[in-house]
Amino acid sequence: MHCIQQEFTVRYRFPVIFTQDVFAIDNPVLADVLCQGGHPHNKILLVLDSEVARLHPDLPDAIHRYAQAHQPLMTLVAPPFVVRGGEICKHDPQEVAQIHALVERHQIDRHAYILAIGGGAVLDAVGYAAATAHRGVRLIRLPSTVLAQNDAGIGVKNGVNAFGKKNFLGSFAPPFAVINDRDFLATLPARSLRAGMAEAVKVALIRDARFFAALDAQRDALARFAPDAMQMMIEHCARLHLAHIAEAGDPFEQGSSRPLDFGHWAAHKLEELSHSQLSHGEAVAIGIALDTLYSAAQGLLPDKDAERVIALLTALGFALDHPALQALDVDTALADFREHLGGALSIPLLAGIGHKQEAHAIEVNTMQRCIAQLHARFGSPVPALSPCLAHSV
Ligand SMILES: NC(=O)c1ccc[n+]([C@@H]2O[C@H](COP(=O)([O-])OP(=O)(O)OC[C@H]3O[C@@H](n4cnc5c(N)ncnc54)[C@H](O)[C@@H]3O)[C@@H](O)[C@H]2O)c1
Ligand SMILES: [Zn+2]
Repeated sequence: MHCIQQEFTVRYRFPVIFTQDVFAIDNPVLADVLCQGGHPHNKILLVLDSEVARLHPDLPDAIHRYAQAHQPLMTLVAPPFVVRGGEICKHDPQEVAQIHALVERHQIDRHAYILAIGGGAVLDAVGYAAATAHRGVRLIRLPSTVLAQNDAGIGVKNGVNAFGKKNFLGSFAPPFAVINDRDFLATLPARSLRAGMAEAVKVALIRDARFFAALDAQRDALARFAPDAMQMMIEHCARLHLAHIAEAGDPFEQGSSRPLDFGHWAAHKLEELSHSQLSHGEAVAIGIALDTLYSAAQGLLPDKDAERVIALLTALGFALDHPALQALDVDTALADFREHLGGALSIPLLAGIGHKQEAHAIEVNTMQRCIAQLHARFGSPVPALSPCLAHSV
């Protein structure tokens, strides 16, 4: 037998920049990012989330003026390509196919750019298209929702849904740069502003007790979406996510443990079961509440800490019950999550606020009791209990 042991390391580095009015002619951020790319002329394919296009009608002109003012650094190869915002662009393969076709038509090569402006769903779908065209063209993300600015848009993953499963197709592909412009958030409805806070609560719970305390102290300001409190929440949350990706030793998630997915085994299923009626952030809030109660039921987390978590989530305005939760089949959801992780089941639980602990088995009856507890405390009338829940109550 002959074996050549192949081994190499690839270093990644990308900036995540916080700014305002990114396409003001005198804002240097985007031009500087392009300069970092090392070429004096850069072709750019612009992709816009349909809601961003609708609510920011002056944006295409502003981007056009910015490109003109920064000639020859930046050339837009076509008018903005508008993709349907929200989960539909991840469900329907046509958006990714259309972006591939535009890459081919406008000869976007591996040193040219796709500039994507949108929510997490659009960034995931465009990111998948960018990562697979020519095995990866450069992607600059401009996240336009809270959740995209503090989580979905700043990391190294992309993906689209297939076979009825979220993110079944996708890749690990770090962006060229991320530019968070807080002005985009001005047009978000309350539901979407709130949804992004779930990921901040999540990352505080698993990594940073002081951040949890800060969120708790700012809960009233956050509940009314006060801009400074929101900005503190977004930037610190983004910083913690980035630190985790860089420092936890597994940026491309090759192991089985997925600490950032606290509350997510249930959340992914709740999004599916509710046919995306629950947004990702709303489902994550319920998933956090559930795994917090479960951590307390397992004796890992003091009851009073569990109550603090539930109290913060409700103060922020999250609904902690939903018919989809009552329809959740815990066994199937855990099995699907394990399959998505690959390898053994590993569910992050809380061993204190700011501290997580991986569990490799879940007591289904206890989890069902926690679901029942959320329903008893926060339930709106639900048409029917699922059969498995009926057993446990
Ligand atoms: N890749 C990752 O690491 C990662 C991490 C977390 C979540 N995600 C994915 O992100 C998605 C959720 O992202 P999201 O919460 O941003 O929701 P979203 O992308 O579904 O956007 C929600 C709605 O807001 C609209 N919108 C976007 N920007 C807007 C603006 N500035 N003003 C008004 N409306 C605007 C969108 O068109 C959409 O209708 C999910 O698909 C989830 O799986 C990915
Ligand atoms: Zn998430």
